[in-house]
Amino acid sequence: MILGATGSIGQSTADVICGAPGLFDVVAVVGGRDVAALARIARQLNAKLAVIADPSAYGALRDELSGSGIETGAGPLAAIDAALRPADLVVGAIAGAAGVEPTHAAVAAGRTVALANKECLVCAGPAFMRTAAAAGATLLPMDSEHNAIFQALGGTDPKSVERMILTASGGPFRTWTRDAIDTATPEQALAHPNWSMGPKITIDSASLMNKGLEVIEAHYIFGVPADRLDVLVHPQSIVHGLVTFSDGAVTAGMAQPDMRVPIAHCLGYPDRVTTNARRLDLAEIGTLTFDRPDFDRFPALRVALEALSHGNGLPTVLNAANEIAVAAFLARECGFRDIARCAEQVCMEFARNGDAREPESIADALALDRAARDCARKFIAMA
Ligand SMILES: NC(=O)c1ccc[n+]([C@@H]2O[C@H](COP(=O)([O-])OP(=O)(O)OC[C@H]3O[C@@H](n4cnc5c(N)ncnc54)[C@H](OP(=O)(O)O)[C@@H]3O)[C@@H](O)[C@H]2O)c1
Repeated sequence: MILGATGSIGQSTADVICGAPGLFDVVAVVGGRDVAALARIARQLNAKLAVIADPSAYGALRDELSGSGIETGAGPLAAIDAALRPADLVVGAIAGAAGVEPTHAAVAAGRTVALANKECLVCAGPAFMRTAAAAGATLLPMDSEHNAIFQALGGTDPKSVERMILTASGGPFRTWTRDAIDTATPEQALAHPNWSMGPKITIDSASLMNKGLEVIEAHYIFGVPADRLDVLVHPQSIVHGLVTFSDGAVTAGMAQPDMRVPIAHCLGYPDRVTTNARRLDLAEIGTLTFDRPDFDRFPALRVALEALSHGNGLPTVLNAANEIAVAAFLARECGFRDIARCAEQVCMEFARNGDAREPESIADALALDRAARDCARKFIAMA
């Protein structure tokens, strides 16, 4: 089952599946709006069901798949129903908080969920993890850094971990001045040096908000306190995550920057699936470098880490404000620097007014998400 089948992770998942013929049967593929891509991937994977979340796209999807024998559905409820179909593994790869409800439905049904969608945990981490524990669901981290850390842990209890380090490539603005970053265009921010990804995560990578969201994700998925999580800038994107154990030993998860590697790990787990991802040749690369992040040039990372330390629902608020600001930036309704400013202002407003509380449930998290989006829209309108 692939939620977010038409996106970058969805396409890479399809690549891994097609590269391992006979290993996987695809129960369902779910997309947002891109009917042509969904129909193509449903046929390519011989899926039993294809669901498009946009209800107005139903007729087009039915037409595209007529005669294929693939069942079709449309609308947010059909996406949730699809997520509930029995499956050995659900890939959660919808972008943004739009993924919370379908992914949570799969978790509540006790499925094994390979989670690429970090916003699920940033928006509703405590409720998500409580549901997973109660339903006996397994979460496999598909995000490259978390997957590297998961592999570096090698089954060791995260409680005996002294530090977890997530690396960041530094994005396209790693060497830029603060003034140049502040006035960057969408085209410049979308030109990621190492990774090819969907637009939202690419902008988050340019602002380093992505690394902040990932630290929050790591906190929830591994149950490690915020003060044991670190970020290092590593422009080569070869070492994705490191674990320092209480005896001083350090293990690292390494691979070429290719999402098919963590995807294959999740699809095959606990076995291995063969991919044709480029193999790592450290002698060819020669030098790996690491730096501390610069919070002055990349304030979004600082704001995200502060939201995690503050807790009390601020990660939910941060995620919502960031989604609104990134969409506004891509639509040229605000500048690049307004992304971090919007996230910070909205978090400060909710913290000051006492409007943010730790969401007890998914419904609470989504209500807080909506309120924070309203506040962020007002900020953007004045930016
Ligand atoms: N790309 C990467 O390398 C990468 C790496 C690590 C983690 N992640 C995480 O994985 C997630 C997906 O990233 P991506 O780069 O694949 O994004 P993407 O290319 O923008 O794809 C997003 C997917 O979500 C679908 N979608 C959007 N709104 C939806 C809705 N309301 N209901 C159902 N589906 C909806 C989209 O459908 P349509 O296109 O049909 O509208 C598309 O399939 C994000 O959370 C990201 O942070 C990505």
